[in-house]
Amino acid sequence: MPDFRLSGTEIVSLLKSIHIKGLVLTSNLFLAPLAGVGDNAYRILGRRFGAGLTFSEMVSANGIVRGNLKTHELMHISEGEKPLGIQLFGSDPAIMSEAAGIASGHGPDLIDINGGCSVRKVLRTGAGAALLADPEHLYRIVHACVNASPLPVSVKIRLGLREESINVVENGLAAEEAGASLLTLHPRTAAAKYDGHARWEYIARVKEVLSIPVCGNGGIRGAGDAVAMMEETGCDAVMVGRGALGNPWLLEDIVHAFESYPDGVEREGLPAETRIGLALEHLDLAISFKGERRAVRDMKRHLHRYIRGMRDAASVRERLFRADSAEDIRAQLRALER
Ligand SMILES: Cc1cc2nc3c(=O)[nH]c(=O)nc-3n(C[C@H](O)[C@H](O)[C@H](O)COP(=O)(O)O)c2cc1C
Repeated sequence: MPDFRLSGTEIVSLLKSIHIKGLVLTSNLFLAPLAGVGDNAYRILGRRFGAGLTFSEMVSANGIVRGNLKTHELMHISEGEKPLGIQLFGSDPAIMSEAAGIASGHGPDLIDINGGCSVRKVLRTGAGAALLADPEHLYRIVHACVNASPLPVSVKIRLGLREESINVVENGLAAEEAGASLLTLHPRTAAAKYDGHARWEYIARVKEVLSIPVCGNGGIRGAGDAVAMMEETGCDAVMVGRGALGNPWLLEDIVHAFESYPDGVEREGLPAETRIGLALEHLDLAISFKGERRAVRDMKRHLHRYIRGMRDAASVRERLFRADSAEDIRAQLRALER
């Protein structure tokens, strides 16, 4: 495999604008789609801290076509989250095509196809990473969406279904030949779910073979990881998922590290008051989108992460899980500031 290590003398900054068909993104740092947590409020914060592209939670193509109200709610987009890709999952080219057309009317900048979900319920329907079993089938799905949408189409995949059937290069080529304008790779098999390390060497392999931009994903927990992924794989963009949960300022750390490359200036962690201030803002944003009852429920997936490592975090975490109103949450968080 060629050595993609970047030479410090050639590279001024790792932060680059990126062209995806007609779409120009000002930053090559992307916020990953995260079902159940990556909602409007989260994406607004992600964008503000430096994500050049955000993604909706995965949306069922069947649900879109059937006109399911909850499914359509997942496609609600506000200006502060853009540029944004709506991510579709499904297994039937005709339904995916119709869904891509409908989704394009909701105002996203890109349509993304989920070829990576490893949840059994989704795999059983032939969607998510099940698309990887047959590159020709993936080709038909991507081609159908490309024909149905005026927007660029991207695809997010894993290495393959399982270790014995890794076919990431075949699937990457199928996506590109079908007209995809960007490929994101989370280099684990579906069977591995989130176990073990993301195998970045496969990102390098795919980057070597494809002509379209390649985004690397998996295992970025600090700015140094994002820099290392760029250095080791030569990828065009990086995508951050779990690392930014309760920690959206990680994105700003990465932008800073990219801009100051190759110096890699370390940044101070944020003081507790600032982190609590952001958690409170996240709560208010969530309420503005989904109302207090749902926001209080859903924010419990985020809040404990914001307070990690703070004095008294363990007891406050318990109380946050029991909180049943926004005011209760605010009081618990403010108690940590004292
Ligand atoms: C709670 C959760 C929800 C996820 N939802 C989606 C999804 O809707 N679509 C998708 O393509 N990937 C989804 N993923 C996978 C992430 O986008 C990402 O590929 C994975 O977490 C690896 O990146 P990371 O190590 O930066 O988290 C999800 C992951 C988690 C943990």
